[in-house]
Amino acid sequence: MRLALAVLASGRGSNLQAILDACARPEFPARVVVVVSDRERAPALERARAAGVEALWIDPKDFADREAFDAVLERELTARGVGLVCSAGFMRILSPVYVRAFAGRALNIHPSLLPSFPGLHAQRQALDHGAKVAGATVHFVDEGMDSGPIVLQAAVPVEPGDTEETLAARILVQEHRMYPEAIRLFAEGRLRIEGRRVIVTPEAGR
Ligand code: GAR
Repeated sequence: MRLALAVLASGRGSNLQAILDACARPEFPARVVVVVSDRERAPALERARAAGVEALWIDPKDFADREAFDAVLERELTARGVGLVCSAGFMRILSPVYVRAFAGRALNIHPSLLPSFPGLHAQRQALDHGAKVAGATVHFVDEGMDSGPIVLQAAVPVEPGDTEETLAARILVQEHRMYPEAIRLFAEGRLRIEGRRVIVTPEAGR
């Protein structure tokens, strides 16, 4: 049985698209069962519908606080038998209610080499800091912001004359490659969390 994935996305959904494309390959060990957004008009929801995947909008305005939103999110995901939740440009901080429910079963992607430049506008932070190398990180979600155990990272150079847009585009190429790879490793049972470290078991026969 292929692992049931949920993807949480607030915006454009290019990482979601990379995940959907990977899942369309017959040998890929996961499939997206639902895409959830906090924005009604998120292009990510359109991408889900176009791929024949359930698109679920949960309106934050319907809830008194973050915990109430997250409790419903947790219920919706659990009801669909989700085994792994992937945040992909989901611009909400998730509360401990959610984090505990999906501990060790929730991933996030962030456009920096964590622990450098967590939070918003990571690419701008890297440029403003004068970094020569930037990149992306896939990590398990914990109760901090962009702080959980690191699964995969990829580095890209910062080129002279880079703008936030050109750097973001270079990083995005790595994101689109790396997120499906992290999902595959998880689905194959090859990730083990030991404290801050994620141990990746080599492929059988290697
Ligand atoms: C991606 O670059 C992702 O790493 C970033 O938002 C973008 C979403 O793009 N996430 C964060 O900054 C989270 N802190 P997408 O909607 O096209 O996948």
